[in-house]
Amino acid sequence: MKNVRFLQWALTVVAALSLSLGGAVPAMAANPDQGAVAAKYASVGGAGSFLGEPITPLRCGLVAEGCYQQYRAGSIYWSSASGAHVSLGGIRARWASFGWERGFLGYPVNEENCTLVNRGCVQDFQGGSIYWSSASGAHVILGGIRARWASFGWERGFLGYPVNEENCTLVNRGCVQKFQGGLIYWQSSVGAHAVHGGILSKYAQMGYENSPLGYPRSEEVCTGTSSKTCTQQYVGGTIVWQTNTGISVIPNTGSIAYVVNKRKPNAPIDRTPSDLVVVGNQYMRTEAGNQLLAMFRDAAANGISMTTISGFRSYATQLAVYNQYVAQYGQAYADTISARAGYSEHQTGLVMDIGNPNGACGLSACFASTPAGAFAADHAWRYGFIVRYTNGYTAITGYAYEPWHLRYVGVRISTAMHNLGSQTLEQYFGLSAAPDY
Ligand code: DAL
Ligand code: ZN
Repeated sequence: MKNVRFLQWALTVVAALSLSLGGAVPAMAANPDQGAVAAKYASVGGAGSFLGEPITPLRCGLVAEGCYQQYRAGSIYWSSASGAHVSLGGIRARWASFGWERGFLGYPVNEENCTLVNRGCVQDFQGGSIYWSSASGAHVILGGIRARWASFGWERGFLGYPVNEENCTLVNRGCVQKFQGGLIYWQSSVGAHAVHGGILSKYAQMGYENSPLGYPRSEEVCTGTSSKTCTQQYVGGTIVWQTNTGISVIPNTGSIAYVVNKRKPNAPIDRTPSDLVVVGNQYMRTEAGNQLLAMFRDAAANGISMTTISGFRSYATQLAVYNQYVAQYGQAYADTISARAGYSEHQTGLVMDIGNPNGACGLSACFASTPAGAFAADHAWRYGFIVRYTNGYTAITGYAYEPWHLRYVGVRISTAMHNLGSQTLEQYFGLSAAPDY
């Protein structure tokens, strides 16, 4: 009985509205929605509901023959594919920001559901969902990022709500979206993966997807209970987080960030990089060489000349160099100034020993106080280089101070190390000291 009276009342409202719009055309028949908008309005309580009075007539002719009517507090949208649904509040404003039904979201396909964690709401659209919570605002989530988020339990998982829109302007057409508890990256060749916690802090410090690690290619995998180890694979290496030891970064073999020291040889041990180019009278990998020459040019513009002394050295060359030092000084001392074959950074093609053209303090500690040495110490980081064997860190690097030995690690990492005042690659990456073999 009550329902019948309600229906009668609703039909009266619809009829009155149609009349008040002065339609000579019978509204119910002419409108493609067949009264669906009015029925939805009635079903939520009509003028006495949260929507309030109508402020526009029913308007049709939208995308896909859709219709809408606007009320004081929101709208009802209808299309034959999606049905009639209320749109209001922060979710409506976000939808509007993408061009309403004309945007990639299309029409709403259900009512807002406001029973989520922390009184959040979700409404699904033809092209994605919009999530709203008071702390995070309203944001669209869709595609592979949405699927990955779902796999962690939607807003109930550790990621919480999205806090911005996805940004798809990243390198190799990747996308990232930020959540309360971390990031989700998506890129076509690796799929969508979350990055969070301590691993995210290190990834951020290294320069995110622009770092030598590139995009994540797995989820973080943790083992252990009281003492936990969590590992995440990236295109360019691995980040490991451990309860007691903290973060370590293990860049892939061949990566510009790969660490070579007395505990970590080149791999394979006789590796020769494929992209060596001539730099001065030496060889280096292409990117490192270009960056070194850029530094030389800028130094020259400041009246400081620099020269190349020793760049890429093959396994065989390093064997000869090392043997010669052993013959000259004995093995113990030779090991503090020269790497054994297979263990030299020079074999990576990412290193140049530099000097002053006049030979002042060549391959000597006093190089640091010559013009070329001082310029390198102050500015090499801007070009992606670090002084690899710093003064006072022999116990970590295994070598005496070499202010002339510049190692290319890329601008992101050299900048991060500069900003942190990090003195060795071992410390920056959280790797064990390598004082000996
Ligand atoms: N002089 C450095 C340590 C090398 O031989 O690679
Ligand atoms: Zn060197």
